[in-house]
Amino acid sequence: MSDTEQRRYERLETSQKVNFTAFEQSGSVLLRGEAVAINMSKTGMLLQTGMSLASDVDVDIILNIDSVFVNLKCCVMYCRDAEDGTFDSGIHVRRINKKDIGVYLGFIEKLEKSSEKPKSLRPQMRGMTDVVKRISAEHKIINEYVAVLSEMMHTASPKADYSATILQLMKKDIITHFNIEENLFFKIGRSVIPDQCEEMISSLTGEHTEFLKTIDVLIDSLQPQIAKNGAVGLSGKEKICDFLELVKQHAVVELKDLFPLLEGNADAKKMILAKLMKLTKK
Ligand SMILES: [Fe+2]
Ligand SMILES: [Fe+2]
Repeated sequence: MSDTEQRRYERLETSQKVNFTAFEQSGSVLLRGEAVAINMSKTGMLLQTGMSLASDVDVDIILNIDSVFVNLKCCVMYCRDAEDGTFDSGIHVRRINKKDIGVYLGFIEKLEKSSEKPKSLRPQMRGMTDVVKRISAEHKIINEYVAVLSEMMHTASPKADYSATILQLMKKDIITHFNIEENLFFKIGRSVIPDQCEEMISSLTGEHTEFLKTIDVLIDSLQPQIAKNGAVGLSGKEKICDFLELVKQHAVVELKDLFPLLEGNADAKKMILAKLMKLTKK
């Protein structure tokens, strides 16, 4: 994974104790130990370990989150001597048990809330008075997932396939994104300029429903492939690429056709801005 990809998610400071097991290429246990996660994101963490870990080694990490043991299948991206008797190991989360993903994301959300840094792209939209710009900023969140997955489809190797994990994370953010669009932009468009946008909004809303179904179908079909072969097959990759293409086309219609209509109507713009102000003040 590239540095750019690694930085796509904010690293949140923590001091979470973890247990880890590192494996040989053959799958047998190399070593077990305790470590401290000094920062974490949705897809990775920096571990402070008492021993050096070779890069590319597979590790299982167990987090104790409020007495729930969350099991993460990870790999070591790099390991540096911290020169204080410890080592800093960059860890990438490759897979999370389906039953654990909610607990893990909830834990990351708690870290986000307790962090003083901006938590996501959404709060950064404060102060923007151009509706289209604000919506474009909102779309950056989805674009990031599309970019990460697209890159992965062209570079994924059996040792580095996190597509199902990323789709799980994408699903959560895309649901929020669709809710914002449907309850804010689409609602106002329908009430203020129905003649100009009803047909388009109806089609976009239908696509939202289809996308959510597709994500579920993809996750369900990819997870067994990754568990069995370490990576998705060619047909799985094609399905992900087709899905990403539809998401991109959908965003183009919104950004180029629908949202400029809303921006161009004084009443719609005023209503959207008023609602956005309320939302971002929370
Ligand atoms: Fe949309
Ligand atoms: Fe959108």
